[in-house]
Amino acid sequence: MSRPRPNPRQAAFDDHERDDPGGKHRLKAPEPPPLTEHGPARVIAVANQKGGVGKTTSTINLGAALAEYGRKVLLVDFDPQGALSVGLGVQPHQLDRTIHNLLMDRNTTIDDVIMKTNVAGMDLLPSNIDLSAAEVQLVTEVGREQALGRAIRPVLDQYDIVLIDCQPSLGLLTINALSCSDQVLIPLECEFFSLRGVALLIDTIDKVKDRLNPDLSIVGILPTMYDPRTLHTREVKARVMEAFGELVFHTVINRTVRFPETTVAGEPITTWAPTSAGATAYRALAREVIAR
Ligand SMILES: Nc1ncnc2c1ncn2[C@@H]1O[C@H](COP(=O)(O)OP(=O)(O)O)[C@@H](O)[C@H]1O
Ligand SMILES: [Mg+2]
Repeated sequence: MSRPRPNPRQAAFDDHERDDPGGKHRLKAPEPPPLTEHGPARVIAVANQKGGVGKTTSTINLGAALAEYGRKVLLVDFDPQGALSVGLGVQPHQLDRTIHNLLMDRNTTIDDVIMKTNVAGMDLLPSNIDLSAAEVQLVTEVGREQALGRAIRPVLDQYDIVLIDCQPSLGLLTINALSCSDQVLIPLECEFFSLRGVALLIDTIDKVKDRLNPDLSIVGILPTMYDPRTLHTREVKARVMEAFGELVFHTVINRTVRFPETTVAGEPITTWAPTSAGATAYRALAREVIAR
């Protein structure tokens, strides 16, 4: 991955961070302009091979915040665990048709599988445990890395942003997501050992870029599970900023029980607790994503 370019906003942000560690008064990305027409979609894979770093939470809540800004959003649940679907109140094992059918059965069209969510302007391509079988079956197929890309292509014109919630591995499903994405968003838990994994992920992104998808880039690294009270997470965040510079989003997601609550509620934090710090943070992230 090429080295980050110098960026005046980053310098301003760094000064700001020094004066305001943890960031109560963050620099704000601008309000996004309204859209008069929709599509073609920018496809963003939300990836990190480590589990529990906030991929699914970020997919749901960034998606919902983008929808609040008038963007038409498609969320793709590309983890056989189906946590994204569950987080939106869908019972994955009760579904007749999921991404698995879309990938494996020529008679299933994407319109058969897409579902509306309770968030206006945000749709879902659900999955469940069947998707793990698809991963095994895909291995022997021609063009196995492009299966997801082929599946979603017919609807790209209808959406502004497609977010793909990847499974916690660098296996074939994640390679499929990276192969059909314009960009990757990397949630990074503010813990020391999580830094090492990101190097491997970036290495994989570079390989996909070389061999399958030359236009792939990183939209940003999102520090998650940040606890402003502990020196440890503050240090980790400083290290992340040092290592990745302007790739790091200015928005940081704090650790709060409000997120596990939303999973139980089956809805995004932007509707469950619209004025909470978590909802505000994902709106700030949405503005940054739109601006990048
Ligand atoms: N900022 C946060 N603060 C506290 N808990 C969080 C936060 N983000 C996610 N969680 C919780 O942590 C767990 C893992 O998050 P999740 O988004 O499912 O990670 P991943 O998809 O990377 O495995 C979930 O129970 C989720 O509710
Ligand atoms: Mg997940």
